[in-house]
Amino acid sequence: MNKIHNILVTGGAGYIGSAFARYIQEHRKRYEVIIFDKLTYAGKRENIEDLGYRFVQGDICDKEYFREICIEYAIDTVVHFAAESHNDNSIANPELFIQTNINGTVSILEVCRELGIYLHLVSTDEVFGDLPFDDSRFTEESPYKPSSPYSSSKASADMLVRAWGRTFGIKYTISNCSNNYGSYGCTGQSVEKFIPRQITNAILGDSIKVYGTGEEVRDWIHIKDHCSGILAILEKGKYGETYLIGADGEKTNNEVAQLIAEAFDVEVEYVNDRPGHDRRYAIDWSKIHRELGWVPRYTNFENMLDDTIRWYKDNEDWWYKDKESIEQKYAQNGQ
Ligand code: NAD
Ligand code: DAU
Repeated sequence: MNKIHNILVTGGAGYIGSAFARYIQEHRKRYEVIIFDKLTYAGKRENIEDLGYRFVQGDICDKEYFREICIEYAIDTVVHFAAESHNDNSIANPELFIQTNINGTVSILEVCRELGIYLHLVSTDEVFGDLPFDDSRFTEESPYKPSSPYSSSKASADMLVRAWGRTFGIKYTISNCSNNYGSYGCTGQSVEKFIPRQITNAILGDSIKVYGTGEEVRDWIHIKDHCSGILAILEKGKYGETYLIGADGEKTNNEVAQLIAEAFDVEVEYVNDRPGHDRRYAIDWSKIHRELGWVPRYTNFENMLDDTIRWYKDNEDWWYKDKESIEQKYAQNGQ
């Protein structure tokens, strides 16, 4: 069992990072949590204000400042969520993804090496590229074949962490998770992402916008299950190991679009496809189950989607201010 006292959560004002901080507060009061976040367009103070944890605004690429904060708060564990996380943005502005996701991870690695801090890297199933439309699944042994600037920057981060483990002996674990959805407390998912974009379009009486033919498959997992998976790894995982986190949630984009369209009685519209669009993701999560006893609990997709729809209806203040500028970007691409 890893020894954890003071956890620094990078990207802790973003979607999954803030949910993870909330999960820790609900399930592990004994841990101290420090939230470190640059507050880009994706980070929101309102996601974490009610938690009462210490918040530090900073850039992971600023190694000296990151080091100072780790020393000041006697950090023993870093859970690294901070990233540029949206594929479409990585097509519009790839260099930012290299800077944050690769250089930012190196600066964290250097600080963890110097101070002997355990690092958990929160990564994605997209590092493995995509799968054919059959019953194959990603495993921890799948080869790396990322397709987009986003996924290749995340793949680079995974490899750098392994290199710092092998060469410098840092203590680390990595998780690769599938597509998250759902809300949790004050946290929603950005309206740039598929499910929130369509729910908020429908609330505003607009159509559901599906890329290409909508036949692509994503393996949906509720955000709380991702959080419980990461906590299981922190507490029971083995240093140097990678764990895949998933919840058997495969759905085509058309299936998800249809559920939202029916809930609001709006049309589905087919728009320009994403360049390099990955076909299918699917996770074999047997290792984390077998070795750490983890299981997903929020697996009724239709119920959790209803719950998510309710959250966006009840929290218009949270998303409305971002909606117009995000939709303008999509409109420029015919999406
Ligand atoms: P998000 O975009 O909602 O949040 C990212 C957070 O990182 C924001 O709060 C942002 O302000 C912060 N950030 C960005 N650049 C920073 C920098 N230079 N310094 C400090 N903070 C910075 O992303 P998310 O969906 O919560 O994803 C979190 C992590 O989980 C990412 O690493 C992503 O690759 C990974 N992941 C996401 C999913 C998913 O479905 N969303 C699935 C698997 C893995
Ligand atoms: O698999 C994990 C990854 O899931 C994470 O690493 C990423 O951070 C996260 O953004 C997500 O990536 P995707 O590209 O799969 O998610 P996104 O919500 O952007 O799109 C999901 C699917 O829906 C994808 O096939 C593209 C499609 N799509 C997306 C949007 C925004 C549409 O059809 N219409 C849309 O408007």
